Amino acid sequence: GAPVQADISKLRPGQRMTVEWRGRPIWIIRRTSEMIARTQALPADYLADPDSRQPQQPAYVQGELRSLRPEVGVLVGLCTHFGCSPLYRPEPDAQAGDDHWPGGFFCPCHSSRFDLAGRVYASMPAPINLEVPPYHYLSEHIIVVG
Ligand code: FES
Repeated sequence: GAPVQADISKLRPGQRMTVEWRGRPIWIIRRTSEMIARTQALPADYLADPDSRQPQQPAYVQGELRSLRPEVGVLVGLCTHFGCSPLYRPEPDAQAGDDHWPGGFFCPCHSSRFDLAGRVYASMPAPINLEVPPYHYLSEHIIVVG
C-alpha cells in the first residue's frame, strides 16, 4: 500500500485522529504535557515490555513515549491479542477497575490495557505493545505513514 499523509494541524491536545494505512487504522494522538508526565512516571514493572524490546516498532522510535515527538503518538490501532479495536481512554478511570491504570487504551474484547504510548500492561492477554508503524514528518503538521 501507498504511504498516507495525515494533517495534524487541527488535532488538539488530548485528541486522537485516525487514518487508514494498508487497511489498518492508524491512530495519531496529541498528548498533553500531563499525559506525557503520566506515561513517563509509570513504574516499569507495571508494563510487560517497558522498553519495547520486542521488534514491533521502527528502530528510530525509542524511549517511553515510542514516538518521534513526545507530544504526538502514532500507533496501529489494533490490539496485539486478537486484533480488536481498543478504546481511547486518555484519562485515569477508576471504573476500569485498576488503580494502577492512569488511562490509555482499553481493549473491550478481553480487557487488555495499554498506556498512552501503546505499551501493554503486565499480565494482559495482549502479549506485546501496540505496533508503531513506519512514519516521518513531511513538515511541521504533516505526517507520512508508510
Ligand atoms: Fe484485545 Fe483480546 S483482542 S484483549
